[in-house]
Amino acid sequence: TDPALIRNFCIIAHIDHGKSTLADRMLQLTGIVENRQMRAQYLDRMDLERERGITIKSQAVRLPFAALDDTTYVLNLIDTPGHVDFTYEVSRSLAACEGAILLVDAAQGIEAQTLANLYLALEHDLTIIPVLNKIDLPAAMPDKYAAELAGIIGCDPSEVLRVSAKSGMGVEDLLNEIVTQVPPPVGDADAPARAMIFDSVYDTYRGVITYVRVVDGHLGTRQRIQMMSSGANHEMLEVGVISPEPTKVDGLSVGEVGYLITGVKDVRQSRVGDTVTSAHTGASQMLPGYQDPKPMVFSGLFPIDGSDYPVLRDALEKLQLNDAALAFEPENSGALGFGFRCGFLGLLHLEITRARLEREYGLDLISTAPNVIYRVFLEDATEYEVTNPSEFPEGKVAEVHEPIVKGTLLAPAEFVGPIMELCQARRGALQGMDYLSEDRVEMRYVLPLAEIVFDFFDQLKSRTKGFASLDYEPSGEQAADLVKVDILLQGEMVDAFSAIVHREKAYAYGVEMTKKLRELIPRQQFEVPVQAAIGSRVIARENIRAIRKDVLSKCYGGDISRKRKLLEKQKEGKRKMKTVGRVEVPQEAFISALSTD
Ligand code: GTP
Repeated sequence: TDPALIRNFCIIAHIDHGKSTLADRMLQLTGIVENRQMRAQYLDRMDLERERGITIKSQAVRLPFAALDDTTYVLNLIDTPGHVDFTYEVSRSLAACEGAILLVDAAQGIEAQTLANLYLALEHDLTIIPVLNKIDLPAAMPDKYAAELAGIIGCDPSEVLRVSAKSGMGVEDLLNEIVTQVPPPVGDADAPARAMIFDSVYDTYRGVITYVRVVDGHLGTRQRIQMMSSGANHEMLEVGVISPEPTKVDGLSVGEVGYLITGVKDVRQSRVGDTVTSAHTGASQMLPGYQDPKPMVFSGLFPIDGSDYPVLRDALEKLQLNDAALAFEPENSGALGFGFRCGFLGLLHLEITRARLEREYGLDLISTAPNVIYRVFLEDATEYEVTNPSEFPEGKVAEVHEPIVKGTLLAPAEFVGPIMELCQARRGALQGMDYLSEDRVEMRYVLPLAEIVFDFFDQLKSRTKGFASLDYEPSGEQAADLVKVDILLQGEMVDAFSAIVHREKAYAYGVEMTKKLRELIPRQQFEVPVQAAIGSRVIARENIRAIRKDVLSKCYGGDISRKRKLLEKQKEGKRKMKTVGRVEVPQEAFISALSTD
């Protein structure tokens, strides 16, 4: 296709603002899905019915569109992951486009995440087309939100399009606007091939499916290709476009968007952001913007039943086939046994992974409190990275650096006070504040990532009745006064409870953990001190008093069956006990103590 006839765009929207429905209308209007085949969320559900076994979601769909100027254009709709932890992936999808539709629910207004992705799109110099959706709703306030959007992107409110993705109203106008406003791709057709990977998905039958946008040159079938970040060469088995079925083509040229199949079996061999070139006479310079996936949040995952360890390892290996950002290595905890220290892009990534391990692999897991990655400088000028509190050095620390993030918060104006309080308590620094409209405020904060991974979202929600939204992106690191707090039971350290916290919060952490544990750990035959300590200095202490009476004496009278039941229950409980020194700790205590509520 002549690049002049190509338009590459994406849709930036908050969950439920109607992205899938709008994509459905576009498929229908451009005629690539016949009306009688149309069903809701066509692209999202396609993978269920793949005859050829390709898991194609809506990563990129090619729409031929006959515009008002009687010319047929190729519109490529590129999907962006709508997920707070995947800023880098979003940025790669945006880099594959020249334009973005900013889609906002006309009854809701813009949300923090949409705003954050809009800023990303502006950084990539994309042409933004602001659109209000759901104008058919009685609750819609298109004038109010058109003004808001116009204020944010700096256009006239009359330039904000109004559509109903549900009824299709205004969608054809929108497609014409894409053709006229979004610039066509530019690239050097005669240069060596360079294509950017904006997504890669593992498929059981075909191996990895790699989605690319060609920038320069031509990628054809029957050609060996090279991944420029690693220099690895692969054989090309298939090149195609999705329209809306996967369709083989001979090749992809400047500005075109499609998929490659090379037979690699692991998405780590086909990384998002990498540049694909031809193996012979390939390009010498990568496209800008590639980053190795870098885990930001770490947590230990341990099977509750120790014999599940091999199942957990297999499950993590399988998930990694489709998740280049998931990192893990074996970890042995004195308290929790054998497990894995896992690295994630963020909290949601952690939660999703954990939920998949439990649901898809039937595992019961204990996870330790999430922590971030610290850079520790010792007095002798050596430096190393700490991803596990138990690796934090004792003494001789000159400086510790922690990762920080830029956060965007959006909320009704009445919640400005509570949000400021929360962010201040979390060592945040206010960078700026803007009223998007009379009653909605955008606040920008720099915050330590460690403060966000610890129940920040829950706090934010409860203080703002669920009305505030937050998005954040990594923004380097800062020096901070951080210490490791250990928890000791009868003088024995329990590694699973060690945490790296700000010195000013160490005392509160110690008091809270010792109190929790005093309640969670049953009395033993002897008194058990529960202590929190920084190095050898104890900062908090509770006592679990010794049992005075036999448990059975609770069963007054001679009800023998009741006594037996109690004994059996005790036995069962025992099996789930871990011993720390001489102290028996029920597994339940670990689980409850490590949960954030
Ligand atoms: P996710 O797939 O969860 O990210 O959401 P989405 O942004 O793709 O939204 P989706 O298209 O699933 O729409 C969310 C809900 O809004 C659905 O119940 C749609 O039927 C409804 N909806 C979408 N567009 C319109 C519209 O123009 N008018 C009305 N009344 N409802 C709409």
